Amino acid sequence: MKKCHPMSRVRYVLALALMPMLLLSAVTTAGPVEDGIISRIQAVGDICIEGQACAEALVAAPTGPRSAEEVYNSGCMACHTSGAAGAPKFRDAAAWSTRLAKGLDTLYSNAINGIGAMPAKGLCPSCSDEEIEIAVDYMLEGI
Ligand code: HEC
Repeated sequence: MKKCHPMSRVRYVLALALMPMLLLSAVTTAGPVEDGIISRIQAVGDICIEGQACAEALVAAPTGPRSAEEVYNSGCMACHTSGAAGAPKFRDAAAWSTRLAKGLDTLYSNAINGIGAMPAKGLCPSCSDEEIEIAVDYMLEGI
């Protein structure tokens, strides 16, 4: 049998003696740092289902009603500029004529509640009904 080198036993004992000190210092110093990291991760990773109160909290609190252009550019534009998924294009009279025949109030309520591939409030859960309505008017301007 191979005998342990006497020095390896010294190192082993030293390591055992140092271990609790290392652990202790890790626990005492990591506390506040970890708290900071955890709160930062939570802020970003706090995912909510659309329409939940927390989703609204993530969007900067509006300082007042957004303009029609702001609402359009921040949400509706994604689909209505290109006509993605069959969305009627921005200020395209031909695309809107059959829809307008349903009446403006129907268009408003369909934009607010969603219809087909059009998500409720056009993916702007923090938008008020009025903000959605003025965005619809903005899309229809000149038609
Ligand atoms: C994810 C893509 C998408 C976004 C974002 C989007 N829309 Fe739409 N929208 C559609 C599609 C697709 C349709 C056609 C739905 C259908 O008739 O099946 C549509 C239809 C509409 C209609 C016509 C509804 C009707 O009854 O014919 C209005 C009005 C409308 N959108 C307003 C808006 C407004 C206002 C916004 C932004 C706040 C918005 N949309 C954002 C995809 C989108």
